[in-house]
Amino acid sequence: MKNRMRRLRSSETMRSLVRETSVSRKDLIYPIFVIDGENIKNPIASMPGIYQYSIDRLKEELERIDQSKIAGILIFGIPTKKDEVGSGAYDENGITQRAIRFIKENYKDMLVIADVCLCEYTSHGHCGLICDGHILNDETLPLLAKMSVSLAEAGADIIAPSDMMDGRISYIREALDENGFINIPIMAYSAKYASAYYGPFRDAAHSAPQFGDRKSYQMDIANLKEAIREVEEDIEEGADFVMVKPALAYLDVIREVANRINHPLVAYNVSGEYAMVKAAAANGWMDEKRIVMENMIAIKRAGAKIIITYHALDVAEWLAE
Ligand code: PBG
Ligand code: ZN
Repeated sequence: MKNRMRRLRSSETMRSLVRETSVSRKDLIYPIFVIDGENIKNPIASMPGIYQYSIDRLKEELERIDQSKIAGILIFGIPTKKDEVGSGAYDENGITQRAIRFIKENYKDMLVIADVCLCEYTSHGHCGLICDGHILNDETLPLLAKMSVSLAEAGADIIAPSDMMDGRISYIREALDENGFINIPIMAYSAKYASAYYGPFRDAAHSAPQFGDRKSYQMDIANLKEAIREVEEDIEEGADFVMVKPALAYLDVIREVANRINHPLVAYNVSGEYAMVKAAAANGWMDEKRIVMENMIAIKRAGAKIIITYHALDVAEWLAE
């Protein structure tokens, strides 16, 4: 036999010499949930290990994040008061704005990515304004822009719109520029699917729609070509990073996008993907560490540069071992 594939698998030294893909702590972004109120650390039932923190309890989590040496955090605020137009989203004293200021006062070098969307702040739970049961597109854009500017003013390092309204990237880019934030990058949730994998997140962020679903603005799960159009559009409008979300059921989309673009590509390993792994591990059905590392490698191998994941702190610990 001339070719023996097993020659390069003979030892761990040999295998690591020819390994094509790796995961680093610097690839990882950890989502955090900050809730209005005092002395709160609420576990999220469907996401074991993940909590909602009030600002006064945030320090213990921030210390853990700082120690982990991951790339940064993605912040979601949960307000107590919601209204039709999501006022809390663009209030300079809103929960997310206050949380970002607190983080930056205590950890000025921590990379803070701010999610931009109205659904946590609207009484109806949709990502845009509503009229007669329809989600309005163009009328929502100024609010997303206002929210982005106010999060940048609070100290966010990157603005990450997740709403899926058309034209939002150029609208937000212009607003950031006009307000002096020319150097704040936009991380666009570009190919964001209308996925059942967001279920646990909606418990965590209190953002479930009160009627209907998100299918008129998030992408149809069956579409790949359309994901390319979404990504191309966001790049055209000025996105600095583009994202595919969810990750594991959409590795083909990640690969296809990676083949076509030169922008940093982000994959969001979402709440439902996390919940499935945690449930199986808790039952002793799978080895959590091996499954999670396999998933991380799979997402990188598909072509993502950056992974947003609730496993980030665990992965960082395992990589440090
Ligand atoms: C808000 C938002 C969602 C997620 C991130 N930003 C939920 C949704 O669109 O319903 C999902 C994240 C996850 O499931 O981990 N628009
Ligand atoms: Zn939303």
